[in-house]
Amino acid sequence: MMKGVHFLVAAVLLALVSSFASASDPSPLQDFCVALNDNASAVFVNGKFCKDPKLATADDFFFSGLQNPRNTENQLGSNVTLLNVDMIPGLNTLDISLARIDFAPYGLNPPHTHPRATELLVVLEGTLYVGFVTSNPDNRLFTKVLNAGDVFVFPVGLVHFQFNLGKTNAVSISGLSSQNPGLITIANAVFGSNPPISADVLTKAFQLDKNVVNYLQRRF
Ligand SMILES: *[C@@H]1O[C@H](CO)[C@@H](O)[C@H](O)[C@H]1NC(C)=O
Ligand SMILES: *[C@@H]1O[C@H](CO)[C@@H](O)[C@H](O)[C@H]1NC(C)=O
Repeated sequence: MMKGVHFLVAAVLLALVSSFASASDPSPLQDFCVALNDNASAVFVNGKFCKDPKLATADDFFFSGLQNPRNTENQLGSNVTLLNVDMIPGLNTLDISLARIDFAPYGLNPPHTHPRATELLVVLEGTLYVGFVTSNPDNRLFTKVLNAGDVFVFPVGLVHFQFNLGKTNAVSISGLSSQNPGLITIANAVFGSNPPISADVLTKAFQLDKNVVNYLQRRF
């Protein structure tokens, strides 16, 4: 009898805990989603509107051409091809996307974060120096030199980078744990915002001479 009561209490507690666990709001899939009372001017909700499943086709789950090298003739010497829900509509609500990154010799994918995704990267060719930095107050740097076949994890939200150490091209593929991982490139967000952040703010924040801030704001 006592055993039965204990079991019942445990079962009720478990049910309560699991109902609390599933009572949270869904994670955001974009930077923000301002509420509307009428839907006349709605663009999208958290994620996208869903197609009637009866109308779905294999092409909704398909992309072709990821084997082709991308053009890396830009200032950074890198090129990211992201296959998110905008490229493959069948990814909607599935918490996953894919990226190919091409690097010219000494090409850089500069410090950036994905606010909504952990990234799992595998090097297909070349040699990459990669790293991420933990949040405050430690700001610990974790780095690794990766060769073909090596895999590295960039935890969600942390600032990270990939740099081609070699004299040859490098190529990597990443899985990302969101249909829309989001991308914040640190230098662009800070020095290239539109409109610009006040130079007074940046001068103090980065302990820089105002001329340097003005220079950086022109660069980005
Ligand atoms: C918007 O609201 C109207 C009226 O409530 C409804 O008929 C229509 O299907 C809605 N459109 C979408 C895209 O939800
Ligand atoms: C990336 O490569 C594609 C195809 O080669 C090209 O169209 C695009 O402009 C490149 N992007 C950058 C940032 O260089």
